[in-house]
Amino acid sequence: MKRNIIITGGAGFIGSHVVRLFVNKYPDYHIFNVDKLTYAGNLANLKDIEDKPNYTFVKADICDFDTIFDLMQRQHIDGIIHLAAESHVDRSIKDPFTFAQTNVMGTLSLLQAAKLVWDGNYEGKRFYHISTDEVYGALEITDPEGIVPPFSTKASSGKHHLAYGKTFFTEDLKYQPHSPYSAAKASSDHFVRAFHDTYGLPTIVTNCSNNYGPYQFPEKLIPLFINNIRHRKPLPVYGKGENVRDWLYVVDHARAIDTIFHNGKIAETYNIGGFNEWKNIDIIKVVIATVDRLLGRPEGADLDLITYVTDRAGHDMRYAIDSTKLQRELGWEPSLQFEEGIELTVKWYLDNQEWMDNVTSGDYQKYYEQMYANR
Ligand code: NAD
Ligand code: DAU
Repeated sequence: MKRNIIITGGAGFIGSHVVRLFVNKYPDYHIFNVDKLTYAGNLANLKDIEDKPNYTFVKADICDFDTIFDLMQRQHIDGIIHLAAESHVDRSIKDPFTFAQTNVMGTLSLLQAAKLVWDGNYEGKRFYHISTDEVYGALEITDPEGIVPPFSTKASSGKHHLAYGKTFFTEDLKYQPHSPYSAAKASSDHFVRAFHDTYGLPTIVTNCSNNYGPYQFPEKLIPLFINNIRHRKPLPVYGKGENVRDWLYVVDHARAIDTIFHNGKIAETYNIGGFNEWKNIDIIKVVIATVDRLLGRPEGADLDLITYVTDRAGHDMRYAIDSTKLQRELGWEPSLQFEEGIELTVKWYLDNQEWMDNVTSGDYQKYYEQMYANR
């Protein structure tokens, strides 16, 4: 079946994996990657597919309603997979306006364009909004040593198989965002649901846990730390390093998006995650051990790079996603064990130093130095 689909934010981390998967898997679909190319957007993430006949890059701001409306009309767009966003919590603490503008107003501009162009003819149409588990707020750590979780998936089937509390984020939880980033994402989720409830727009929302893997911008924990370890630079661990995050390999998120875009029910919300909780300090030790082993350094050689720094303001303590609905209703499961995923990830960053050097030069470097100088 022929389809014309806009993927927003396709030059970013997760978006590039979604674009790659759709372009390769569905030669009959035409994929329009709409991306403004902010500091986080990088066309080098898509080198391998940029010449495919079913792929077009459109440099545009999602807040630019006229451009989006025109593109949707001219290209007979029948699906939108919306990932474009400002995505980094630390930046949102410094500059909340940009987050409200892109994440809220940008989403609204896409929704309004879809409503007007589709004009009530919703058969075969789909507006799929990608959100985050951070909208649910934070869970407490009630079991600091970890307990055997009530659920498991391939992602969590390795040696480390722990939950740090008995409660999890489920789809029916009340939203309680704490950071400007998650507040803006929560607001955009509400607008998406409002467009379904008010105008019947065929929407779907998903909320995923922390992703890791190739092409992630090195302001986020895992790529930042891999690069710092390689160059023997300090590893700034916020607070005591005891916050818990639930990690999913990015390709498994892209696979979930594929499943949900095609088989998810309109107006539903699905959580995406692999029941794979880690305390920051534990995952950092795994990353150090993996980098050191792959670089042929002695075991534990870089543990002394760990540097405890002032905590992130409003730092959410624990995220833990319950994705049983997605597994039960649509049969999705992670394909990789965490140990396999982290090995692939570290190897990818070490093998792609040129990619890393390109994104860590220039403005990024200045921003990063300034941010830490101000802490
Ligand atoms: P990212 O920061 O790596 O990429 C964001 C992309 O959006 C970039 O290519 C950027 O150029 C583009 N963009 C930003 N503002 C834009 C605008 N105004 N118009 C057009 N394009 C714009 O982000 P990511 O980590 O890949 O996250 C993608 C989406 O997934 C986001 O919506 C995020 O909230 C969500 N999410 C991320 C994670 C995670 O762990 N990274 C987890 C769950 C959900
Ligand atoms: O949960 C999904 C979210 O995961 C996404 O919605 C966000 O877009 C994505 O950025 C990510 O948010 P986090 O804030 O959890 O990711 P980050 O990589 O920034 O941080 C992970 C944890 O590591 C967090 O507890 C803060 C801590 N940290 C992070 C950095 C960058 C440090 O201790 N030191 C650091 O230098």
